[in-house]
Amino acid sequence: MTNLSQWLATETNDDKLASAIESMAAAGVEIATVLRQAPIAGQTGLAGATNVQGEAQKALDLISNDIVLKHLRENPAISILVSEELDEAVEMSSQGEVIVATDPLDGSSNLDVNVTVGTIFSILPAAGGLLQKGTAQLAAGYVAYGPATSLVLRIKGATSVFTLASDGQWLLTVAAALVPEASGEFAINTARERFWDAATKNYVKESVAGEAGAAGKRYNMRWVGSMVADIHRILMRGGIFLYPLDSETASKGGRLRLLYEANPMAWLVEGAGGRSSTGQQGILAVEPTGIHQRVPVILGSAEEVARMEDWYRRS
Ligand code: AHG
Ligand code: MN
Ligand code: MN
Repeated sequence: MTNLSQWLATETNDDKLASAIESMAAAGVEIATVLRQAPIAGQTGLAGATNVQGEAQKALDLISNDIVLKHLRENPAISILVSEELDEAVEMSSQGEVIVATDPLDGSSNLDVNVTVGTIFSILPAAGGLLQKGTAQLAAGYVAYGPATSLVLRIKGATSVFTLASDGQWLLTVAAALVPEASGEFAINTARERFWDAATKNYVKESVAGEAGAAGKRYNMRWVGSMVADIHRILMRGGIFLYPLDSETASKGGRLRLLYEANPMAWLVEGAGGRSSTGQQGILAVEPTGIHQRVPVILGSAEEVARMEDWYRRS
């Protein structure tokens, strides 16, 4: 089987980029080990601090952030680190050539209930500065800590999936993920319905109407509450993920963060033939204005993203 280093050698000539990916993959292995034993080590619950976004940090959010920091500090290819858990960007190596933006542990609300969580990352050229559009990404990926530990990666080509073997190697298990164009599965937090805009209400109403509705087919709903797990399902079998702008998140620009949640996931989904949108434009075309900037997120099967965009055009 192909391992991560062999795959990297065929996907890129850029040694700095490859080493940045290896560092994030190594951080993922260490975080996986910590997560597996966290209840034994007493690494549960809140850390007692809040991050710059005003969210209560879990002990494991901070531990994961420290593990990522440690691995990236050891790598002279890294110029700057942007993390969900750090208010400011951190200068790393002055000779560094790439910027890493990360959500060290996505799905915090699922940490203490043993449901899949993940580490998301985006890699950008240092020359472009902190605020670059998603189209400038050199690579993006995530590690999903589920029944299997998966590393999903894309440089410029296909979106590939690796599985962590018991000897610590990442082995290629899906060479090119393919998000089916059509799907009958949507993911949204329906408890937020009262905050939704007309487009979201109409999209969901039409889906729930099933065969009798204008979409003319039956839909199922899934919402894990960890973006990594919801996107992984979509990469494997299709569907749509929605965290649109709603009346409660509008003043902040949305719920999810552009640099380390929306952009890397859009990069991976588009590499697998899916689509991304804010409702108004492709996610990768959004001009960032801040490192913790939020955006509306619509990701997944092309036909479903188009149906949602259609509702935005009509409303
Ligand atoms: P994080 O744990 O990094 O703050 O991100 C949580 C995000 C994302 O993983 C998930 O899709 C979404 O928040 C869940 O939001 P709700 O709590 O509104 O369901
Ligand atoms: Mn997150
Ligand atoms: Mn997080």
